[in-house]
Amino acid sequence: MTGHRHDHAAQGRAPTGLSAPPAATDPRQLWEQRYGDGQVWSGRVNTTTAALVDPLPPGRSLDLGCGEGGDVLHLARRGWHALGVDISTHAIARARQAAADRAHKLTGTAAFHALDLSADDDAWDRLAGSGGLDLVTASFLQSPVALDRARILSRAAHALAPGGRLVVVSHGAPPAWAPPEFADDPARFPSPQDELDTIGARGCATGLRVLIAEQRDRPATGPDGQHDTLVDTVVVVERL
Ligand SMILES: C[S@@+](CC[C@H](N)C(=O)[O-])C[C@H]1O[C@@H](n2cnc3c(N)ncnc32)[C@H](O)[C@@H]1O
Repeated sequence: MTGHRHDHAAQGRAPTGLSAPPAATDPRQLWEQRYGDGQVWSGRVNTTTAALVDPLPPGRSLDLGCGEGGDVLHLARRGWHALGVDISTHAIARARQAAADRAHKLTGTAAFHALDLSADDDAWDRLAGSGGLDLVTASFLQSPVALDRARILSRAAHALAPGGRLVVVSHGAPPAWAPPEFADDPARFPSPQDELDTIGARGCATGLRVLIAEQRDRPATGPDGQHDTLVDTVVVVERL
């Protein structure tokens, strides 16, 4: 899967959430265990996300479930004042190290905070700041254990400044190598309409304009080197 952070072939892993069963049911414990074993992602930006954010002028951004920070660093290289938050302190430590290592390449700024987005409602005022955010990204903010995506993504949409965008990229279909118990679970693979419902962006009185709600293909390589096409669900909404 060239050019994509979910480079599972290189690491012999199925996409997160498709490797059964999860080692823990507590979200913090599960993600700390996953990141505690060493680097999980490639460190590169997610290609689907990059295609959506690269045309935008830099401003203040927030990445939800930023993992090891590849998307945040990409934005900071392009002049954004980019913040990433994640439940895992291991992931955040790795992202901070990556930012320090690449500081000379950043024309903007990259900062990272450990935060449980399902639990900490008070954090949103701090995250949004007084003027609101120009961009919120959520790349594969999906989990095999409890994650209140509806609450998180609707809060994110309300943290936008007027004209600001929420960009959500999710696994839209199982890869060929997913075990049947995961492939047969539609809740793991939201459609664009599912995502609009989750965000609360359907209807006329939402204060949001839907710019993109579709599925996009990208080439991928499975854990045993098999080639496949993965489907990403892509939703972009703009605050009016
Ligand atoms: C599938 S990974 C995607 C990581 C990264 N965005 C990427 O594309 O590589 C999902 C991420 O969500 C994070 N996460 C899960 N539950 C969370 C929560 N309640 N609050 C914040 N982050 C969470 C995980 O730690 C993990 O880094």
